[in-house]
Amino acid sequence: MKILVTGGAGFIGSTVVDVYLANGHEVVIVDDLSSGKKENIPPQAKFYKVDVTSPKLEEVFKKEKPQIVSHLAAQIDVRRSVEDPAFDVKINILGMINLLNQCVKYKVEKIIFSSTGGALYGEVEGDPADEDMPLVPISGYAIDKRAAEMYLSAYSANYGLKYTVLRYGNVYGPRQDPHGEAGVVAIFCGKILDNAAPFIYGDGEQLRDYVYVRDVAEANVIALTKGDNDVYNIGTAVGSSVNTLFNVLKDATNFKKDAIYKPARLGELQVSILSYEKARRDLGWKPEVDIKEGLKLTFDWFKSKR
Ligand SMILES: NC(=O)c1ccc[n+]([C@@H]2O[C@H](COP(=O)([O-])OP(=O)(O)OC[C@H]3O[C@@H](n4cnc5c(N)ncnc54)[C@H](O)[C@@H]3O)[C@@H](O)[C@H]2O)c1
Repeated sequence: MKILVTGGAGFIGSTVVDVYLANGHEVVIVDDLSSGKKENIPPQAKFYKVDVTSPKLEEVFKKEKPQIVSHLAAQIDVRRSVEDPAFDVKINILGMINLLNQCVKYKVEKIIFSSTGGALYGEVEGDPADEDMPLVPISGYAIDKRAAEMYLSAYSANYGLKYTVLRYGNVYGPRQDPHGEAGVVAIFCGKILDNAAPFIYGDGEQLRDYVYVRDVAEANVIALTKGDNDVYNIGTAVGSSVNTLFNVLKDATNFKKDAIYKPARLGELQVSILSYEKARRDLGWKPEVDIKEGLKLTFDWFKSKR
């Protein structure tokens, strides 16, 4: 298949590109390199340095006529979306609408959208959140991801464009930078390599669902042919605390320093864990890499880059 990946120079997008290529697909990348890196782009992929909000996007569709679009380009900084919601709306909603209009005009079969479970469900009490949990978006980022999901179902109803929404947990792995939803992993790896004690905000017991980037990329492959017009959590159903992350990394690297504890950050969730039961049932997807193995792979990658 010919697949256009927006955000394909970014952390998750470039891993998705690698896995698409490994599965024999043809890949075209659209990325404005605002946070993505040229070095993440493999030579087998065609690259257009284009902003998804720009009218130039149409030229790419006209020339390349992709069958599938996997949309990962986004403003991903949750704090920035709180401080400057209008900017988030521009990239994450107007960018989506520009993309959807091209998909309809150039008869794209399906769009796969990278959404968030970590930011949409709010505080999770009891069982891991499933897709039917009430949504409690409290940042511009989460509101705009939800709005983008709703535009997908509207375009599907109005124009027959198929879609799959993948709501990720906190994605970590090689190529991640400190600004994403699982930025803490990159920060800890950097500090350990600098032999410096990292900061932990609050008591470090806040639980997140850390999902390895390769598993997320596999979900993007499965969604090429399954899960039409539906929404899936892509997480592990396991909550790991910030303290656990640090301790696992400490053990794996023989790091001797302790973390320095700082006051909790305002508005931070205590628990966010996702059920992947629906993805298992409908897509046959499950996470393959546990937190111990994933953290080791991630640390080794950061080390290799020094
Ligand atoms: N990292 C996580 O934990 C996580 C969790 C849930 C959802 N997501 C979603 O996954 C996707 C990828 O996130 P990531 O963590 O790889 O972040 P990233 O910043 O590494 O990737 C985003 C990519 O989009 C590009 N981009 C940004 N604005 C653009 C624009 N206007 N036009 C074209 N390209 C643009 C950036 O240059 C970058 O390459 C995003 O949609 C994000 O919201 C990430």
